[in-house]
Amino acid sequence: MTAANGAKTHATTARPADPCCLVIFGASGDLTHRLLVPALYNLAVEGLLPEAFALIGVARSESSSEAFRDDLAKSLPKFATRNIDQSAVKRVLGCVAYVRGEPDDEATYNKIGQELTRIERERGTKGNRLFYLATPPAGFAPIGCHLGESGLARAANGAWRRVVIEKPFGTDLASARALNEKLLGVLNEDQIFRIDHYLGKETVQNIMVLRFANGLFEPIWNRDHIDHVQITVAESLTVGRRGSYYDATGALRDMVPNHLFQLLSLIAMEPPSRFAADAVRAEKAQLLDAVQLQGPAEAMRNAVRAQYDDGYVENRPVEAYRKTPDVKPDSTTETYVALKLMIDNWRWANVPFYLRTGKALRAKQTEVAIKFKQAPVAMFRDTPVERLAENFLVIAIQPNECIGLEFNAKVPGPTIAIGGVGMTFKYEDYFDIAPSTGYETLIYDCMIGDAILYPRADGIEAGWRVVQPFIDGWREASANGLAGYRAGSDGPREADELLARDGRRWRPIA
Ligand code: BG6
Repeated sequence: MTAANGAKTHATTARPADPCCLVIFGASGDLTHRLLVPALYNLAVEGLLPEAFALIGVARSESSSEAFRDDLAKSLPKFATRNIDQSAVKRVLGCVAYVRGEPDDEATYNKIGQELTRIERERGTKGNRLFYLATPPAGFAPIGCHLGESGLARAANGAWRRVVIEKPFGTDLASARALNEKLLGVLNEDQIFRIDHYLGKETVQNIMVLRFANGLFEPIWNRDHIDHVQITVAESLTVGRRGSYYDATGALRDMVPNHLFQLLSLIAMEPPSRFAADAVRAEKAQLLDAVQLQGPAEAMRNAVRAQYDDGYVENRPVEAYRKTPDVKPDSTTETYVALKLMIDNWRWANVPFYLRTGKALRAKQTEVAIKFKQAPVAMFRDTPVERLAENFLVIAIQPNECIGLEFNAKVPGPTIAIGGVGMTFKYEDYFDIAPSTGYETLIYDCMIGDAILYPRADGIEAGWRVVQPFIDGWREASANGLAGYRAGSDGPREADELLARDGRRWRPIA
């Protein structure tokens, strides 16, 4: 299937981003090699990277500009999502410098300043600077503060200065607030871009278009017609080599206040007045603000946390979480979490939102499933029809990018029989989508100053406020109430019970 005229639809042409110099802190790390440089390369191929572009890497390790450039050039073909074209490589790596330095040492920023002055003169990047903090989270506050205090991030003579902060933005409400406070002490809100890579996914961005560019969903998008909503971010991946990060973090902090809450707010927010950063971000923050805050006892009743045991994922044997390198053998960190949340507004009163995410599950599957209220079966009372299939609208985010509607149809034949059927829209049938890293749009938006895909301070804090009772409750409970699940399964029995209690059940993980 393709568009009505048989042709696939292409994106409209965007303009190249503003001339700029990108300064990456944590430049020797995985993120730079695996995602950022391949994303810059894809932007170059699309003609969206500015002609005047330069890259400065900052890290602790001993290296030189030449060695750093060679390193990036070597790793790019390994991680690129498209064929390598040398002219595009040249646009990305044509001007590369390296600064060795400690994140909390003033001297580092003097050196960066010297490089910037030189490059801006030689390369004509017009003084526009994008600082990308791809470091461990401990670096965010000191680097942000040094950038502000040194004047490197001070907008001057019409040039812009922006700072991208990677996740996790804080580890609880207090630390997120403190980080916002520090950054906002030296930078303006419109200079800060807090990244959530879920917003780089086309299928996530499409939620707003599906809801607000179509007349048919909004009138039924409320408590009168919707029974409940399920948000699933299931991963087949295990914790693997991230033991020390993960054991201190857990599934709740790693996934819920950021990725799952982005999905939740896009699904449940009120229509923004304009398709513009502040209007959209205000509605998203307001939605998170309307999520009912639960007391400690209530939070424990409405949440399930669990850890995976030995099992098989996609036919590969998987060892229990506690046997992962750098994980404490008696760890109580959860690798799975399920929550029931309620939203206190007129649209959603009494409509439960069930969220779940976990590692080492049966399959990778991210989806939002909206369950509509059942039709009354009364009309079919005197027929052989015993029950009706459920009406779901399923927004599949990944790996199968599609939107499906499940409804009832008459089974052909002389007697009345009813069966569940489905209609599915697949992105690949309509659009030519070049493989990407998911960071392209996010980086490009930063370079043109569009913050629509970046959560604001209030949205981030509202998210942490909702999860804080769960964090507190689990800290106190320690191992009490920590469930287990077999690696390769759909999750713990207790998560099924969370819905069964309300007479509902999870959709299976494919
Ligand atoms: C990251 C988490 O933010 O998101 C990881 O730290 C997780 O633990 C990843 O695996 C999931 O992202 P995606 O795009 O694969 O769903």
